Amino acid sequence: AVEAKIAPSMLSSDFANLASEAERMVNFGADWLHMDIMYYTLHGPDRLIGVNLQDGHFVPNLTIGAPVIASLRKHTKAYLDCHLMVTNPVDYVDQLGKAGASGFTFHVEVSKDNWQELVKEIKSKGMRPGVALKPGTPIEDVYPLVESENPVEMVLVMTVEPGFGGQKFIPDMMNKVRTLREKYPELDIEVDGGLGPSTIDEAATAGANCIVAGSSVFGAPDPAHVISLLRTSVNK
Ligand code: DX5
Ligand code: ZN
Repeated sequence: AVEAKIAPSMLSSDFANLASEAERMVNFGADWLHMDIMYYTLHGPDRLIGVNLQDGHFVPNLTIGAPVIASLRKHTKAYLDCHLMVTNPVDYVDQLGKAGASGFTFHVEVSKDNWQELVKEIKSKGMRPGVALKPGTPIEDVYPLVESENPVEMVLVMTVEPGFGGQKFIPDMMNKVRTLREKYPELDIEVDGGLGPSTIDEAATAGANCIVAGSSVFGAPDPAHVISLLRTSVNK
């Protein structure tokens, strides 16, 4: 069976104390640290599918970039699971590789015509490639990337509209997870958005094994307990 990976989303952490927040999460039992990279690029309007064409942003927010990943890397050996909510992920492969990112997950909506080259690039920089999809994007869109000779190694099914932490889990997305799990028994399937004690069983039963959780972990009086509860649910 696929292994459980519990990935607290550092978007819910105190960014001014990122190193100690990361250490705290690792000590609480986190397998991965989920890093939400929201950024914008000014070029490539032809690629802006499902994107706000007004300002080039993939999501209406700006968070961190490679310099912050590089700083954090100096303080932790943890697997840094980077989720790129940017319009031109290819622009960040080199710098994130150098910064010490572990996983590089790009969105299928903005990579329709260059994912093959992108996956190669990601691997050549020593990172693990993943593909993410927004709630409105059909699951079929990621099949070619999983079945390619040079495949992505994880699919991230967004369970909220990307952009912010603390939103409500969209249960309909479990159909995507179930379909994926039936088709690919060994694939890492990640869910992101609104995961916590009240939604984990649904996601785990559908077949998700990599669990991103921001507000439910950071907002809990006992984050270690929440992390262990998420893991138990995936493993049962
Ligand atoms: C949303 C991000 C998530 C976010 C999840 O765009 O991709 O990783 O931090 O936060 P919660 O768990 O609070 O929904
Ligand atoms: Zn994320």
